[in-house]
Amino acid sequence: MSFIEWTEAMSVGSSTLDTHHQMIFDCLNALYPLLDVQGRDAEVHAVLNKLEDFVLVHFSEEEQAMKKAGYPDWKAHKELHDRMYEVVFKLKSDVEHGRTLHAAHLFKLVNDWLIQHIMGEDKKYVPFITDGHAAPSGVWKRGNGREF
Ligand SMILES: [Fe+2]
Ligand SMILES: [Fe+2]
Repeated sequence: MSFIEWTEAMSVGSSTLDTHHQMIFDCLNALYPLLDVQGRDAEVHAVLNKLEDFVLVHFSEEEQAMKKAGYPDWKAHKELHDRMYEVVFKLKSDVEHGRTLHAAHLFKLVNDWLIQHIMGEDKKYVPFITDGHAAPSGVWKRGNGREF
C-alpha cells in the first residue's frame, strides 16, 4: 500500500540526487501503514535511521552539486538543510532517551518537507544543474561530423 510514488516530473536533473529523494518517498510509504497503529516502534525507528542517513549524505552531496553548478542561492538552501538536520537529530536524541516517536509525527514532518522542500526549493536549482551537465552548445559541426 503506497502513499506516494516518485515520478520523472519530480526529477532534479541528477540521477544521484533523484535516488536520494526516492529514499524519502520510501520513508513515507513505510510510515503510511504504521499511522494510528500501536506497538510498531521498531519500524518507526528504522525509518528515522534512514532519515538520518539521508540528511547526512544527501544534504552534503546536494550542497556540493549546487555550488559546482553555480546556483547563486545555495547558502540559503543550505540553511534550510541545516534546520532539517537539527530536527532529525533532535528526534534521534529523544528516541535514544526513551521518548516515544509516533509514526504520524514523523509522517507529517517528512510529508510536509517533501512537498515544500523537494518539490519547491530543490526544483529551483534544476536549471543550473542540468545546464552544467548539458553538452556544450557552442560547438558547431561540419556535415562530416568534425568541429570547425
Ligand atoms: Fe534534496
Ligand atoms: Fe535540498
